[in-house]
Amino acid sequence: MKFTFVTLFPNLIEPYFKDSILKIATQKGVIEIDFVNPRDFTKNRHNRVDDTLIGGGAGMLMMPQPLDDAIKYIKKQDPKAYIIFPTPSAKLFKQKDAKRLSKKEHIVFVSGRYEGIDERVIEIYANEVFSIGDYILTGGELPSLVMCDAISRNIPKVLGNSSSLEVESYEDHLLEAPSFTKPNIFEKNSVIKEFLKGNHAKIATLKYDLSLLKTKYHRTDLYRKLKTKGKDYEK
Ligand code: ADE
Repeated sequence: MKFTFVTLFPNLIEPYFKDSILKIATQKGVIEIDFVNPRDFTKNRHNRVDDTLIGGGAGMLMMPQPLDDAIKYIKKQDPKAYIIFPTPSAKLFKQKDAKRLSKKEHIVFVSGRYEGIDERVIEIYANEVFSIGDYILTGGELPSLVMCDAISRNIPKVLGNSSSLEVESYEDHLLEAPSFTKPNIFEKNSVIKEFLKGNHAKIATLKYDLSLLKTKYHRTDLYRKLKTKGKDYEK
């Protein structure tokens, strides 16, 4: 899978791939990353990439031409490249999107800066738009990285142990149960005693019940979505 980041600030993104799981994934060639800087496509004398808002308003907007040319350049090499714009004015990015998008061959994230991007560029090129949460960041670089990370770990061979994908939060709308490692007692706090007894069926049932409780407590919105699967979650 290839990820191309269209950004004025590649240095905000590149270091993330210099360590840990995504470093290994790039070294193994499971994922490939590339950067395209819209500033390299400017046609004005001062290499400007932003301009004032038509109709008034505070701040500056990324102008269409450099972005348009940057995306055309990418599309010329790969017409099937899948273009995603991170923006706070969009649907929320979810785990199911991460899984679905992990099957693409080439994803392009187009990061806005300043007050955002001229809407016409989004209209022309967006295959999808996503927000990563109900807050405003200073640009699209962090959202692009967040989505890239979430997508990447669903690509086969990126995670060492792919079975860990099956039991984590948001699978089936459930938050993950608490987990522990050694020592059994830390700062006078014991792990859940049942976890020490080795009865795996019992542990699985307990973990499931704890998942339900966590979801009910922290995320009532998810809890309401749970399919009953023959069990009455409301009891
Ligand atoms: N750009 C700025 N804030 C954002 C957000 N919350 N999600 C996606 N893109 C953004």
